[in-house]
Amino acid sequence: MADQKIAVVTGANRGLGFETARQLAQRGFHVILTARNLQAGADALKRLRAEKLTVELHKLDVTVSEDARALARHIREKHDRVDVLVNNAGILTKSAREPGAESSDPLTVSPLTLMQHFNTNTLGAVRLIQALAPLFSESARIINVSSGMGALHDMGGGHLGYRLSKTALNAVTRVFAHELAPRHIRVNSVCPGWVRTAMGGLSATRSVEQGVETIVWLATSPQATDSGFFWRDRQRIPW
Ligand SMILES: NC(=O)c1ccc[n+]([C@@H]2O[C@H](COP(=O)([O-])OP(=O)(O)OC[C@H]3O[C@@H](n4cnc5c(N)ncnc54)[C@H](OP(=O)(O)O)[C@@H]3O)[C@@H](O)[C@H]2O)c1
Repeated sequence: MADQKIAVVTGANRGLGFETARQLAQRGFHVILTARNLQAGADALKRLRAEKLTVELHKLDVTVSEDARALARHIREKHDRVDVLVNNAGILTKSAREPGAESSDPLTVSPLTLMQHFNTNTLGAVRLIQALAPLFSESARIINVSSGMGALHDMGGGHLGYRLSKTALNAVTRVFAHELAPRHIRVNSVCPGWVRTAMGGLSATRSVEQGVETIVWLATSPQATDSGFFWRDRQRIPW
């Protein structure tokens, strides 16, 4: 265990986070699978342990600063370092698919809904980076799971909260890439493409395996040495 690299994945009970946790564990990482719902996390843990993967579960709601600090305390006591952090947890309000959900229409969406997206999709990553900062190993890697919907060069209509929160997440990537450069810690954003998860829906064009490919590559590849960029399909894309 002492030689095993330690990876933390947020929102890892399903979707892209679950597959990222699985693939990092398959590559020899000790993965700390985090989930805001402990039962959902336990179900995910069971599936990965059935594959004989080295994973543990820790409760983490990325909107709760104390959860992030408790995770840091646990890691300090048990592992004393973090080699990879994947900030994956995210929300996308879908008024069309979730009856009762608030509209994401830019002309009517409430400030509260905008702030909820910001709190999860942007500040969630900030909370984790701040809490784990003392524990990052030299050359640790931070991957922020962003979206093309946050890219200014290709900005369209709809989903104001999600778009703003992912644009801001990309700024988080740039700022922390600079802040952590002296420690050789690499910080990057990834767009996984349109992926068949609860968020992406059944019509999405990519499998979860395709969706996590660049995330896992940035987390593990000796060739992936850049920092402060936005990636899709192992290629840099414009902000
Ligand atoms: N799917 C796509 O097409 C696509 C495209 C571009 C970017 N992305 C990004 O990829 C990431 C993963 O999305 P996905 O497609 O896998 O979606 P998903 O299946 O809806 O999974 C989202 C995950 O985030 C968790 N989560 C939400 N709020 C959280 C919170 N406050 N604290 C901790 N966990 C929280 C969810 O937990 P619960 O199970 O408890 O809800 C779930 O585990 C997101 O950041 C998303 O924006 C997805």
